[in-house]
Parts: sequence; C-alpha cells; structure tokens
Amino acid sequence: MSTIKVRPDVMETKPYAPGLTIEEIKEKYGLDTVIKLASNENPLGASPIAQKAIIRHAPNVFRYPHNGNPRLNKAIARRIGVDEKNIVSGNGSDEVIDLLVRIKAQPGQDEVLTYDKCFSMYRLMSRLCGVTFRQIPREAGYRQPVKALAAEVSEKTAIVFVTTPDNPTGLAVTVQEMREMARSIPAQTILAIDEAYIDFATPAEDYDMRTLLNEFPNIVLLRTFSKAYGLAGMRVGYGVMSPELADFIIRARAPFTVNMLAEEAAVAVLDDDAFYNTTLDVVLRGRKLFTDELRAAGCEVLDSQANFIMFKPTRDAGEVFEELLRKGIIVRPLKSFGLAEYIRVNMGTDHENKVFLKTLKEIL
Ligand SMILES: Cc1ncc(COP(=O)(O)O)c(C=O)c1O
Repeated sequence: MSTIKVRPDVMETKPYAPGLTIEEIKEKYGLDTVIKLASNENPLGASPIAQKAIIRHAPNVFRYPHNGNPRLNKAIARRIGVDEKNIVSGNGSDEVIDLLVRIKAQPGQDEVLTYDKCFSMYRLMSRLCGVTFRQIPREAGYRQPVKALAAEVSEKTAIVFVTTPDNPTGLAVTVQEMREMARSIPAQTILAIDEAYIDFATPAEDYDMRTLLNEFPNIVLLRTFSKAYGLAGMRVGYGVMSPELADFIIRARAPFTVNMLAEEAAVAVLDDDAFYNTTLDVVLRGRKLFTDELRAAGCEVLDSQANFIMFKPTRDAGEVFEELLRKGIIVRPLKSFGLAEYIRVNMGTDHENKVFLKTLKEIL
C-alpha cells in the first residue's frame, strides 16, 4: 500500500465511477448490439459538418490552438446574442464550473450552496477547492427549491448552483421564478445557472435565462456542446457572464484547455441548423412517447424539459436496470444521486426508443 499522503480533501474523495463501456457490456453479456441511453448524449451521433471540420483540421494539430479560443467565443456570442466578452469557453462546462469555484470561493471560509440529489460536479469541485459544500432539501416532487435557496444565502455563500432543466429530474425553473430568486440574493454571491439541457426546454422563452443576464451581473449561465450539439467526446462547454467575471476566470485558467479540433468542431456545428433542429425533433418526439407510454405502464414519470426522463418503475429499479443491461440496453440507475427507486433514461433514435419501451414493458 502506498504511504504517500496528499491533501485530506483528495484522500477522502471517491473517484468518479463511470459505468461499463459498450464494448465491456457486449463482452460480459455476449451481445452483438447495445443501446446506450445512460449519458444524455445526442441520439443522432456527431454532426457530419463537425466531423468534416475535425478531419479538415487534423493536419494542423502540431500547432498550439489560439489561447482563449477567441474565434469560438465570437461564434457562440453571435449564436446566442451576447457580446464575445461575455463568453468563457472551457474543456466541457465541467471546466467552467471548476474555474468558477476556484476564482470565487475562499477555501476554509466560503461555502457553495445548492440542493440535494444534484449533478455531482458542484460537490467535487468545491471539495477539491477546500470549500464547504452545502445542500438543502428539494421541494415536494423533487422541484428545485429556489425560494429556500435564496433564504439560505449568507455572506459566506460564494456561489449558488441551480440546474435547469435539472439533472437527473428534468424539471425546469421558469424565468420568473429565477428572477425572484436573483432579486433576493446579494450582488456578491454568484448565481450559477447550469443550462446544460436548455436547448430541449419548451417554450424556450419561459425557461431560457439569457434575459436575466442584463438584469443581474452576478448571474452566470453554464452551457455545453455535449448534448444538443453532439460533441460530448470533444469536451467543449462555456459560461456566459459579465466581462469583469470573465476576465478573472481568464487570469486563473490553464492555457489551451479547449483543443484545436474541439474548437473547429464547435464552430462548425453552430452552423449546422439541420443537425440541431433534427436533434430537437427526435428528442421532443421521444420525450412525449416515453412520458405517455411509461405513465400508461403504471410508472411514475416526472415532467421533463430535458433530453431524458426520470421515472420510478413498477418494480425494483436496481433489478430493472440489471435486466435491461442483460438485454443490451444501458440506462442510468439513480442510486448514486440518492434516488435508488428511480431510473434516468435519455431519448435515443426512434428505433432505439421503440426497442427500449418494448423491452422495458416485457421486464415490468
Ligand atoms: C447538469 C450538467 N451540467 C454540466 C454537465 C457537463 O457537461 P460537459 O460535458 O460540458 O462538461 C452535465 C453533463 O452531463 C450536466 O448534466
């Protein structure tokens, strides 16, 4: 056993435990095909236009990328209607979460505040920074407790995280609810709104928090290319924030974290309207189908505004997960979120959705 000691925060942290890969599952269960509906990835795969951009730029990878990715920031800014000075690109939005915690929260003094059963990165990044991570209970029906969060903020609260649409519930907070929350938070506390799944929320004007950016300079939106844009493996995300905050983040970050091919793929996919629109069509169609069919089968299904649904099967969720796996379908059991009775499943292609529903009904 190693005798090396590292920081206690690190020694106490359990490593992130990814599920088995598709190849491992094929081998373990002797399967030819596996359908993965566990990581909220894009059902259409990667955009052909993004793939071409990656191939076209492959010969240039002996060079460093342009630090800070100004071309990507400009393309994002144009797409979402803000100034490029408001954008910080990152190696996935995970990197922007990490940077936010590192620039804002004083280790040993400040806290990061959110609610229970939430996306795991907020805890990980806070703990690794030596910052207290505090969670309050969700409201009834697992709703994000926006009023209670606002009431819990104190001068020690460096950042409040709210995920909307939420992972793993899919529930979304309205712009009006968020505006009320933002009004009662001190200007020195960052309200970080994680919008990884915002593309799938309808109607967009009820849920898209961009309108709040001009009203509250302490709001940061976190967005990603991993879901609606189909680039999870390239690792590109971004934060939208005040230029002042963006400047602080740029000072604190390591250079070149968004690599050249990731940047090219992201710039290209922003122009691939056909891919984006078809993604939304497939996901929204699948979401309605999953919700209706699972409810009809007696399962409890939460109202999702994301590219996945959370449901409580009519039998033990752990057993249902295992049986689906044996039949070549990977879903996400939610025990690690503290929701052992529930399963999260993302929408696949129309064919994958059909196979999932048929297999699940056989199991139930
Ligand atoms: C709520 C939420 N935020 C952030 C992320 C991370 O996204 P990225 O791939 O951009 O790091 C995810 C990924 O699943 C997520 O569910």
